[in-house]
Amino acid sequence: MSTLLHIQVSPMGDNSISLSVAEEFIKGWKEANPDGNIIERNLATNPVPVLDGEAIFADYTPVANRPESMAAKRALRQNLIDEITGVDEIVVSTPLWNWGIPSPLKAYIDQIIIPGVLDGSGANGLAGKKVTAIIAQGGSYKTGSPREGWDYGSGYLELVFTALGSTDVTVVVSEFGLAGVAPGMEDFVDAKQSSIAAAKTAARDRAAA
Ligand SMILES: Cc1cc2nc3c(=O)[nH]c(=O)nc-3n(C[C@H](O)[C@H](O)[C@H](O)COP(=O)(O)O)c2cc1C
Repeated sequence: MSTLLHIQVSPMGDNSISLSVAEEFIKGWKEANPDGNIIERNLATNPVPVLDGEAIFADYTPVANRPESMAAKRALRQNLIDEITGVDEIVVSTPLWNWGIPSPLKAYIDQIIIPGVLDGSGANGLAGKKVTAIIAQGGSYKTGSPREGWDYGSGYLELVFTALGSTDVTVVVSEFGLAGVAPGMEDFVDAKQSSIAAAKTAARDRAAA
């Protein structure tokens, strides 16, 4: 039986574009894995703490010398690592916020990366896992657009999951989410609809691949 970890970040609930694309992925995944198990990690409703000094210092402190609060912070990190390394497949759905990933997702990434345990220097904990990152953008950063290259979210997520050992990372982007919402973007409503539709198709295809 295959297990999928869905890490979701948007706080927008039924209005979330990234979540609506992820739902298409999950539909496709369930078809491909009728007996599969899905673990939901919702960082909007259940954020992980920002990494603090005590949590970091735990890995420089012998287990027997760790005070209770330090041991608890280290245990939380281990639980998150065990969760992501224990699944077969990972899908992340997130908005692009201020040209990067939202801070709850960054806090999660900081929690799960520990040198020698799960890291970008050879621990390879995500080797063999298929990773799909779904990102909803409010505008567009494609080649030729006025803000070409300002998306520091997609490439970052691709880098993180590749560094952690996955050799099968795909990023699905939907654009123009703010059209029809933010003033001045009325001309992009059609582009928004077609971009979301294309992202949903890409997500379904990816789940079936
Ligand atoms: C705090 C905040 C910051 C945002 N920053 C950006 C940005 O830098 N670039 C962009 O294209 N869209 C930006 N947006 C728009 C969102 O990416 C867009 O609305 C997207 O649909 C959000 O995903 P969601 O619908 O899954 O929540 C921002 C939205 C919010 C609320």
